[in-house]
Amino acid sequence: MKPVRSILITGGAGFIGSHVVRRMVRQYPQYHILNLDKLTYAGNLENLRDVEGSPNYHFVKGDICDSALLDNLFAEEKIDGVIHLAAESHVDRSLESPLEFVQTNIIGTVTLLQAAKRAWAGKYEGKRFYHISTDEVYGSLDHGGYFTEQTPIDPQSPYSASKAGSDHFVKAFHNSYKLPVVLSRCSNNYGPNHFPEKLIPLLINNIMQNKPLPVYGKGENVRDWLFVEDHASAIDVIFHKGITGNVYNIGGNNEWKNIDLVMLLCQIMDQKLGKVAGSSASLITYVTDRPGHDLRYAIDATRLQTELGWKPSVDFQTGLTKTVEWYLANPQWLEHVTSGSYREYYQEMYANR
Ligand code: NAD
Ligand code: TYD
Repeated sequence: MKPVRSILITGGAGFIGSHVVRRMVRQYPQYHILNLDKLTYAGNLENLRDVEGSPNYHFVKGDICDSALLDNLFAEEKIDGVIHLAAESHVDRSLESPLEFVQTNIIGTVTLLQAAKRAWAGKYEGKRFYHISTDEVYGSLDHGGYFTEQTPIDPQSPYSASKAGSDHFVKAFHNSYKLPVVLSRCSNNYGPNHFPEKLIPLLINNIMQNKPLPVYGKGENVRDWLFVEDHASAIDVIFHKGITGNVYNIGGNNEWKNIDLVMLLCQIMDQKLGKVAGSSASLITYVTDRPGHDLRYAIDATRLQTELGWKPSVDFQTGLTKTVEWYLANPQWLEHVTSGSYREYYQEMYANR
């Protein structure tokens, strides 16, 4: 049977990408889903064991900066939709190696845009290029207000600057060549398969190992957390129903000061590990702040909710509990991703804080 659509998902072996791949493979058996991933330190095919045998799924190891590979994939697989998630995604790493972020997030995105433009050659009926971005491109809020789609782009870290650069190129390809693009900008995600360099899985891993819980600065920074499966459901809706050229903010109206989040997570971990209340919290250690640390992110997702009818389905206590349960049930996943280069990273990042 000829597939109804052939969709290229980039970065599908990463945290969010793997949840998007799983959702698309399961919800749309009539689609062909092609996952292109370079398998950097953050990419892990173990995230996709449960779908890798599906007849409508195919994995290709490769780099979004490889123009020849992209041309082949577009031609051979007759790609008519792209969901672009591949990126370098960690702010702390971007402070150490900004050029790697320019390479993947900007040059990689432009290489992919050019491949889509060449392959589709102006025949845009039924085609869609969906770029996954982040609320961090809007910069930092103080204690009031929200990011809307009209908030000026004002990135503050090398990571957010590279994502903002890619957003501008995506819009420019729409404006200049009419490439049928759509973009979304989501708040902080959490959930299973999250690499333990990011706050929530790092805390869970450290509590499991009885190691200090590094809180940057005074723990006063605020993030707006969304369960990763809710992000995947929003991506599904925007891919199918979003208006070409539009940007959609995605968020769950769920702001937490870091220290309050750490305390809640410690409580859940104590319960799940059968430890005395307060044991995990005794590991909290305040460390030197991240340079240029954005104070607050908070998303206004009204457009997505009112125009496309999406809303989040998982409340924070439930999502966080599910997340903790997943990590406790999958110690071998953590063991695999924290061996080798992770140890060096952790050593360098936290040794002198
Ligand atoms: P991740 O770091 O977990 O995964 C990134 C994936 O991209 C990995 O599988 C990696 O191997 C792959 N990759 C990296 N460079 C590549 C290249 N040159 N070619 C092909 N593949 C490459 O990231 P994530 O947290 O899943 O984020 C996915 C996307 O969502 C990113 O674009 C990120 O900016 C965006 N985003 C993330 C969050 C969040 O909270 N994590 C929030 C909003 C938006
Ligand atoms: P992170 O998960 O890196 O996401 P982002 O910087 O993209 O929002 O960090 C979330 C928040 O947690 C952020 O304010 C930085 C803080 N943080 C710590 O306090 N300690 C840590 O070890 C890490 C990784 C983050």
